[in-house]
Amino acid sequence: MITVNQLHPLFFGEIVGADLTAEPTETLRDAVEDAMERYGVCVVRQGPITDAQHLRFARLFGPLELPPGYGTRPSRMAPELFPAGNLDAEGKIRPRAPANRDVAKGAERFHADSSFNPLPSKWSMLRGVECPPPEAGGDTLFVDLRSAYDDLPEETRARIEGLVGIHDFWRGRAYAGLAVTDEMRATMPMPPVHHPLVRASASGRKAVFVGGHCVGVVGMDEAEGHALVETLYDHVTQPKYVHRHHWTTGDIVIWDNRFALHAATPLETDEYRRDMRRATVNESGEEMDAYEYRRRLDA
Ligand code: OGA
Ligand code: MN
Repeated sequence: MITVNQLHPLFFGEIVGADLTAEPTETLRDAVEDAMERYGVCVVRQGPITDAQHLRFARLFGPLELPPGYGTRPSRMAPELFPAGNLDAEGKIRPRAPANRDVAKGAERFHADSSFNPLPSKWSMLRGVECPPPEAGGDTLFVDLRSAYDDLPEETRARIEGLVGIHDFWRGRAYAGLAVTDEMRATMPMPPVHHPLVRASASGRKAVFVGGHCVGVVGMDEAEGHALVETLYDHVTQPKYVHRHHWTTGDIVIWDNRFALHAATPLETDEYRRDMRRATVNESGEEMDAYEYRRRLDA
């Protein structure tokens, strides 16, 4: 039997009783879809599973977004998974880099995964394979964008309805403090994309869709648009909308990228291994990496 507990007053469910080592059932899929619509972010508590079981579970909910350069780069995990954590491609601890040099540091600002891509991103499903103890850091924070929307003043809701956000990976990283160079941009060229500032879920609840990659607003000058999205960012990331997750080995945390933001917290030492693996699913379409998708849009 699957049960769901709520771990934060506003959102964040805990799904207990799912066995992801067994062939998935429709009951499992429906229970997870319902819990996600209700809570926006859920942790599935169960024992360690394999990459193949993780991917089989993810594919119940949509086609995978594949990592950039899918199948062409060395990987210590199934190539469909995105690596997070502090291990390099050989599985050795990658020493921490200074903040202004570390591209991954940007994940410490609240963000929606892949919002800088034109793909219709749905959920991320991050699995804790090796998790450090609490005092070492490495918790993940989540924000409930739907409760944050509900609490916006009426005039702000009216002002942002129908506006479109500009999502730009490199500009977002620069705002997060990274010294972005032309060379970085050239190795990963990612022109800005647009997404509505207000999004509704199946139940009709609305969310204010900002986050670290959202740097401006279509039709506004750069300073005005940036100021507006920063004001919204400050509103949604107030402590009352934030839940902190401490990882236990085997946890899978699923977040709906349309209705929740998340942020990494830094590891305080290089002493512990943190091996995190993420499956990402889209609302629809073929399974491909986001570069391939852009190429097809441009063609
Ligand atoms: C991610 C991410 C945060 C973390 O995998 O998309 O932002 O704490 N991870 O590992
Ligand atoms: Mn992320």
